[in-house]
Amino acid sequence: MKIVVIGGTGLIGSKLVTKLREHGHEAVAAAPNTGVNTLTGEGLVEALKGASVVVDVSNSPSWEDAAVLNFFETSTRNLLTYEAAAGVGHHVALSVVGTNLLSESGYFRAKIAQEKLIRESSVPHSIVRATQFFEFLKGLADISVDGGKVHLPPVLFQPMAADDVASAVGKVAVGQPVDGIVEIGGPEQFRVDELVRRRLASLKDPREVIADPNARYSGAILSENTLVPGSDARLGETRYETWLTQPAAQIPSAHPKTNAA
Ligand SMILES: NC(=O)c1ccc[n+]([C@@H]2O[C@H](COP(=O)([O-])OP(=O)(O)OC[C@H]3O[C@@H](n4cnc5c(N)ncnc54)[C@H](OP(=O)(O)O)[C@@H]3O)[C@@H](O)[C@H]2O)c1
Repeated sequence: MKIVVIGGTGLIGSKLVTKLREHGHEAVAAAPNTGVNTLTGEGLVEALKGASVVVDVSNSPSWEDAAVLNFFETSTRNLLTYEAAAGVGHHVALSVVGTNLLSESGYFRAKIAQEKLIRESSVPHSIVRATQFFEFLKGLADISVDGGKVHLPPVLFQPMAADDVASAVGKVAVGQPVDGIVEIGGPEQFRVDELVRRRLASLKDPREVIADPNARYSGAILSENTLVPGSDARLGETRYETWLTQPAAQIPSAHPKTNAA
């Protein structure tokens, strides 16, 4: 089966392409540096020719409010239009657990817009909402700095390894469209401030992490369970302490890119 992975050179995308190929699928890594740009439409006709499934695990290069909204709206609109024309039978997109509750955040307004376009399209779809990646914990600190200290709310979350995200997205991609949402998460719950503090310590990053009930996550106020997936979520196996021993954990973070909210 031909499966086009938009953002196939990124953190999740590159793992997903590898896994799909290991399972015998023809996986195409689509990104600007492979000649496919979803913002302009460049390369999409060629890439989508004969494709059964498109998986969108792209991300905006800029997380500034207007830029990120433009990215997810324009690229999703383009993708769905080209998919309908090419007869693609399944659009899979990666979103975030709690997205619908996070509209105070410019980044999440963009993810809400992305999900809405997908729901309203004629292309059968599956939206996979994942919890935060372990790989993003340092990025989470970076976007939460105030006065040189990291301010994070002491609420619950259930983060997961990027490798488990890619496996779960791959399973959804080769299955039937659910025309709805699948939630995925990690095997353990933590307090956000607690795990980010542990992650910075593992990187010998000296920044202090303050448990601040008024601190925002990417611009949004969180309640105790905003970031926690529902009871029917599919859970990855990798525990945080196990992930920490893996080579991936030695890399501080690929996130955030520019102008993080
Ligand atoms: N971070 C988290 O904890 C978390 C949690 C749940 C869900 N998510 C979601 O996971 C998704 C993927 O995240 P990630 O960390 O894997 O992203 P990433 O590593 O930043 O990769 C982004 C990918 O998008 C590609 N891309 C950028 N602009 C493009 C364009 N105009 N056309 C086509 N491709 C383009 C990039 O290509 P280049 O490298 O060539 O620019 C890259 O391959 C995002 O949608 C995010 O919302 C993230």
